Amino acid sequence: MNALYNAWKKLLREELKRKEDSSGEDMWRPTLHIAPPVGWLNDPNGLCQYKGVYHAFYQMSPFHPEGGLKFWGHCTSKDLLHWKFEGISLCPDQPYDCHGVYSGSAIVEDDTMYVFYTGNVKQQGNYDYVNEGRQSGTVLAVSTDGIHFGSKELLMTNADYPEDVTKHVRDPKVWKQDNIYYMLQGARTKENKGVVLVFSSEDKRNWTYTGRLQSRQPFGYMWECPDLCEVDGNTVLFISPQGLEPDGFRYANKYQSGTCFLKGDFRTNAEIGEFRELDGGFDFYAPQTFSADDGRRILIGWMGMAEVQDQYTNKTIADGWQNVLTLPRELSVQDGILCQNPVRELYAWWNREICFTGGYHADIASCCELDIHSDGGDVKVILADGLELCYEEDKKLFRMEFLNTSLGAGRTFRGRKIPYLKDMRIVVDISCVEVFLNGGADVLSTRFYPEKDQYTANVKGSKICGSCRYHE
Ligand code: FRU
Repeated sequence: MNALYNAWKKLLREELKRKEDSSGEDMWRPTLHIAPPVGWLNDPNGLCQYKGVYHAFYQMSPFHPEGGLKFWGHCTSKDLLHWKFEGISLCPDQPYDCHGVYSGSAIVEDDTMYVFYTGNVKQQGNYDYVNEGRQSGTVLAVSTDGIHFGSKELLMTNADYPEDVTKHVRDPKVWKQDNIYYMLQGARTKENKGVVLVFSSEDKRNWTYTGRLQSRQPFGYMWECPDLCEVDGNTVLFISPQGLEPDGFRYANKYQSGTCFLKGDFRTNAEIGEFRELDGGFDFYAPQTFSADDGRRILIGWMGMAEVQDQYTNKTIADGWQNVLTLPRELSVQDGILCQNPVRELYAWWNREICFTGGYHADIASCCELDIHSDGGDVKVILADGLELCYEEDKKLFRMEFLNTSLGAGRTFRGRKIPYLKDMRIVVDISCVEVFLNGGADVLSTRFYPEKDQYTANVKGSKICGSCRYHE
């Protein structure tokens, strides 16, 4: 390991010690959601199951809770619910990643973990940083224990990418299929069109550009964090487009993340189906999927959003950290729609249950789940006296609305058109709320900041029954 790597590790130890010695209460740190011990978190990276253990890496700025130089933070779990922080596994310590170890992915083969990421370099000077002034290299790092990585290998530079794309090429997602390795990268063309570049390789080190996935009409200027997988016999492309205009209740956030079903083979003639947002709440971006050893396809997203400081704040900045990842979500396709549900481990973990028919108005545990079934009519849930989660049957509209500014720290309203409401699962975890509607066909996620004595639920509906589950 080089001297710079060791210096970063030392600085992190000092930062963690400062945090430990501080008297802060850290009252909004979630129980089950992955959060950085210190500093800033964004995209999930390198998700995999390695020697039976789940690994989640993430974009982390350990020394700047409001964002800065990016490292890979790392945590592990045996049950996808309880995570242990393992430190910073990849640091900016090479000329080709000196301005950030950007997002990427992992594959596991023969008990070895291979991670691919983007080395970010921003040259000093008078550049537009789109067509010039930036380098985005594709880098490989290998681990044989899942914790430490050997020396890095720069596999591709901007010169290896197609001529018509700008310097914005990043976030390699790699997998093996039919004995060939495939890599997707998100890119911005010189005509400001978001596309996904496809590369292939026989040995994980030598890559050839083989084509691209793109929409017929331009759809945003840049696509970040691409992913592709089979879910119940469907080929699903995941993209995070930047530059979409709001459209009714859709695309209300600064940036979007969603899926397109592919018709045809992604290697030859794939046509991209309609884009559907993965999450209609305030806090969701840059998701990544992985395949668990038992065959489940699991998605984790960044439960946050870039460049929204002017709209809302995350109150944990005062505690020296910011942002979380979503709960791991199992993917399935029902009636042609990609559904997301919390991993089944969560349901099994709750060991207390209070059932209700009609309304429910009570204090709740700060980490719990409300599971509501409806036979029609309006359904309204108010959490912490100020977050309304409401289905209005006549408008066929689901609303997530903050009734006071303090609770949402500036968040206001998000809506989602849905044809009916059969069931609603609300997972509350201290400062995180994830709402799963109709078997996970629609999902809305948000952060919220209740005071300690404010964990209450008020559930109303003409034809509802349900339960509140928690762990004791
Ligand atoms: C998405 C993203 C990625 C990039 C990373 C940098 O949020 O912009 O495209 O690799 O964040 O932190």
